[in-house]
Amino acid sequence: MTPPSLTPAGLRCAHQVDPLGVAPDRVRLSWRLKGTGTGRAQRAYQVLVTPEEPDASAAWDSGRVETAVTAGIACAGTPLTAAGRYSWKVRVWDETGTASGWSEPARFEVELDRTSGWHASWIGPSRVRESVTPPSGAGPVDPVARGLTPAPYLRRAFTVGQPVTSARLYVTALGLYEARLNGRRVGDGFLTPGWTDYTRRVAYQTYDVTGLLNQGDNVLGAIVAHGWYAGFYGFDPKRAGAHYGTAPELLAQLVLRLADGSEQRIVTDGQWESSTGAILHADLLMGERHDLALEPSGWDLPGFDTRDWRLVQVRERDATALVADPGPPIRVTEEIAPRSIATDDHDRHIVDFGQNLTGWLRIKVDGAPGTRVRIRHGEVLAADGSLYTDNLRTARQTDEFTISGGIEVLEPRFTLHGFRYAEITGYPGDIGQAEITARVVHSDTPAAGSFESSLPWLDQLFRNIDWGQRGNFISVPTDCPQRDERLGWLGDAQVFACTACYNRDVAAFFAKWLDDVTDAQLPSGAFTDVAPRLTLTGAGAPAWGDAGVIVPWTVWKMYGDTAVLDRHFGAMTRWMDFLERANPDYLRARELGNSYNDWLAPGDDDTPHELLATAYWAHDAALMAEIADATGRPGDAAGYRALRSKIRSAFTDAFVAADGQVTSGTQTAYVLGLHMNLVPEDLRAAAGERLVAAIRAADWHLTTGFAGVGYLLPVLSTTGHTAAAYRLLEQGTMPSWRYMVEAGATTIWERWDGWTAERGFQSPWMNSFNHYSLGSVGEWLYRFLLGIDQEPGTAGFGQLLLRPHPGGSPDWARGSYRSVRGTISVGWKRDRGRFTYWAELPPNVTATVCIPSSHAAEVRNTVGNPPASLATFPGAQDAQEAVFQVGSGAHEFSGPSISNPGCP
Ligand code: BGC
Repeated sequence: MTPPSLTPAGLRCAHQVDPLGVAPDRVRLSWRLKGTGTGRAQRAYQVLVTPEEPDASAAWDSGRVETAVTAGIACAGTPLTAAGRYSWKVRVWDETGTASGWSEPARFEVELDRTSGWHASWIGPSRVRESVTPPSGAGPVDPVARGLTPAPYLRRAFTVGQPVTSARLYVTALGLYEARLNGRRVGDGFLTPGWTDYTRRVAYQTYDVTGLLNQGDNVLGAIVAHGWYAGFYGFDPKRAGAHYGTAPELLAQLVLRLADGSEQRIVTDGQWESSTGAILHADLLMGERHDLALEPSGWDLPGFDTRDWRLVQVRERDATALVADPGPPIRVTEEIAPRSIATDDHDRHIVDFGQNLTGWLRIKVDGAPGTRVRIRHGEVLAADGSLYTDNLRTARQTDEFTISGGIEVLEPRFTLHGFRYAEITGYPGDIGQAEITARVVHSDTPAAGSFESSLPWLDQLFRNIDWGQRGNFISVPTDCPQRDERLGWLGDAQVFACTACYNRDVAAFFAKWLDDVTDAQLPSGAFTDVAPRLTLTGAGAPAWGDAGVIVPWTVWKMYGDTAVLDRHFGAMTRWMDFLERANPDYLRARELGNSYNDWLAPGDDDTPHELLATAYWAHDAALMAEIADATGRPGDAAGYRALRSKIRSAFTDAFVAADGQVTSGTQTAYVLGLHMNLVPEDLRAAAGERLVAAIRAADWHLTTGFAGVGYLLPVLSTTGHTAAAYRLLEQGTMPSWRYMVEAGATTIWERWDGWTAERGFQSPWMNSFNHYSLGSVGEWLYRFLLGIDQEPGTAGFGQLLLRPHPGGSPDWARGSYRSVRGTISVGWKRDRGRFTYWAELPPNVTATVCIPSSHAAEVRNTVGNPPASLATFPGAQDAQEAVFQVGSGAHEFSGPSISNPGCP
C-alpha cells in the first residue's frame, strides 16, 4: 500500500511565522513535511508567491524544482515591493513522485522602503519634568535619582471618515515604547524595539491594528522609556544619556486602507501632545517607580481633556537605517506562582519562586491611597534569610508603587530583573491573599529540544541550561540578566551557540544579533568583545572576537541557512585579514585585545594566551573554508585551507611536543589542540591520554574556563574517553556542573564556586547566578549522550548521524530536537546487558545510526536485520559499533551493551 502523500506544513519566512515586516534580502522560505511511513522524502517542490492585491499575478512561481531542500529558499521572481503583502504556498513531490496538495497559505509583508517609505519624524516631550524621585531618606541627592525621569506619554487624536479595511502600525523608539490605540495595548511584545546600536540601525515593529480602529474618533498613543538608549546600562552604568542619547523619542506611522481604496496616514509629527503619568521612572537596571494616583486615566481614548498637555518636540529623521525587526519579539512566556512566602519581624516578605528567572512581578493589592509597596529582586538569599543583592553591583532591581486606593494590579513593563526571590515591603493587608506572579520575560524563542534521563539531577542540569538561555536571550545574547552589565558578550555567545540552537529555535534571534556583531566591527576589521558595542571599544579578545565567525557557522550548520553566511562573509573576511596582518608568522600573539584567555578557569589559568589565541584562529580558518565552500566560493575556500595549514604548523611547532604533550599541559590546552585538529594525527591518541591524565591529576575534576569547557566532553568522546566524560559530568564536588545543581542552582552559575559551604558567596563584584556559558555542556548531551548529530560536512539536519554515547550511571535517556527538517526523537536504555536505541525521524532525512556494542555484529534493527557495516566506536577505544542506514520513520536497534565505561 502506498503511504499518503507528504504534507508541507509549518511554513516560515525569514525563520518567522507570517512576519509583517521583512527586508527583501531576508526573505527565505522554509517548510517541514508531515507524513507517515518509512523512508519518506521530498523529491521536488514548487513554491508560488502571490501579491495580495486583487487580480495580481504570481510574483514568483518556482516551477518544479528537483531537490530535497526545504529551507533557505530565496524568492527569485519579480522584485518584492516595499510594504507589499504576499501570500505563498508550496507543494511537494514525494519519493514515489506523488504530489501533495498545496499547503495552507502563509504570508509575509515586506518592510517599508528605508528612505521613501517613512513620513514620520521623531518626537519627544517638549520639556521633561525634572525627577520627582526624592532621595531615599535625608542627605545628599541620590546621583542615580538624578538620571531617572518620568516616562513621557504621547498622544494624537484623529478621525477616520470611512470603514477601515486594513491598518498597519509601524513603530519604534529611541528607548522603549508601549503603543496604545483607543485604550488598548498594541501587540504583546515588551521592551520594544529591542537593542541595536541606535547610531547605525534602529529596528521597528509592524502590527496589524485593523481591529483596534473606529470609524470616527480615534487616539494613537505611546508611553516611552529610557531603555538601552538613554538608561543606565552596562558595567559602567553611566548617567542616563551617556551611551546613546539623553531622552527617549518615538517614531510611528499608522497606515489605514479605507473602504473606498484610499489611504490615510497618521505619523509622529508636531501635532502630537505629551504629558506624563504614573511612571515616575523606568530603567532597565534600576527598576520602576509608579504613583498610580498620577495616571491620567483615559489618556489614550478619544474625548480625553488634554488642556494640560503640551505639543511635542519634533526632530527630523536622519540617515540611520530603519529596519523591520528581524528578531523574535520579547514576550511574557510564562507565569510562575510563589513556592513560599516568609515574613520577617520588619514585615518584609520574602517570596521564593523556586526558579531563577528574568522578568518582573505582577501583584494585586487592595489598600489605602498613598500606601507604598516596594519590591526588590535578588537571585539568592543571605545566610540569615534576607535578600542578597551585593552581586547586583549598582543595579537596583527595585520597583516601587504608590497606590491610589482600592483593588489594583501592580506591574512594571520597561525594566527587567534577574531573580528567584523578591522582597516585598509595605504590602497592605495579608500577603497570603495577594495574587503574586512572576512574569517570565525574554525573546520568544520556541523550545526545540528536550532531554530526560534516569538521573534527576541531570534532568535538572538540562533545565538549568535552558533557563539560563531564556533569562539571557533578550534581544541580544547577554552574559547575565541581573547586575549592572547585561552585555552582548561575544565569547559567551560563541561557546553556547550550538547548545542554544538545540534548546530553542534561535535562528531569527541570531539573525538579528549577527547584524549587531557586524555593526560593532571596527574599521581595522576586528570584531569586538561585545555587540552592540557599548563600553568596550577595542578589538575582541581571542575566543570573543572569533564569535564573528563561529556563530554564523553554527547557525548555518544548525539551520542550513547559507544566507547568514553570505550576509556576513565580508565582515568575516575583514576579521581574518585583520588577524593575519597582525600575526604574519601565524602565531596569534598580537592584537589580543583584553585577552580574557580561558576566562574563569578554576585554579590558575595557565594556558598560554598565544596558544589559546592561535587555536581559535586556526579554528576560524577551518570554518571559513567550510563557509566559503557552502556559499560557492571555492577560491576563498582554498585560501582559508592554506591559511589553516600555516597556522596549524606554527601551532604544532610552538606548542606540541613529539610525545603529544601540549605546552602548559592544561586541560584546555589539550582540548583546544584536539578539537581544533592541531595535534598531528599520529599524536592524537597520546594527547588524548594526556588530557585524561590531567583530569585524573585534578582528581577527576575539570579545570576549564569559558573558552575550553564547551569542547571538553566532546573531545573526550571523540578521542575514545567517554568514560572520563561521564566522570566529569557526574562529578559531585566543585568544580562541576553537578555541584551547582546539588547546591540548589536553578540556572547555570557564572563561576564554578559561586557559592561554597566553606566560603559562602564568591566576590560580589563578579558572581552571577545566571550566566549560560558553562552550560555549553548541553551540546554534548544532545550530540553525544543522546546521539542527535549530523554527518560531518553537512548542514541543516538532512543527513543525520545518530551515534549515542552511553556510559556512566544513566540507565536510560531520551530526548528530541525539532530541526528544520522536523522533530528527531531518540532514546536509549541499558538493561541486563542489552543496549536498545530507538529513533523516530521526520520525512526527508537519511540517517547513519551507530550502535555501540561489545558484539556489534549481533546488533539487530526492528525487523531483525543485521548492521550494514561495523566500525570502531570513537567513544571507547575497545568497543565497536554496528552501523545502519535508515530513512524517516520509527526504528529500534538492540544488541549486547558495551561494558559500562564507568571508571577509566
Ligand atoms: C562577563 C563575561 C564576559 C567576561 C569577559 C564578564 O564580566 O560577565 O561573561 O565574557 O566579562 O571576560
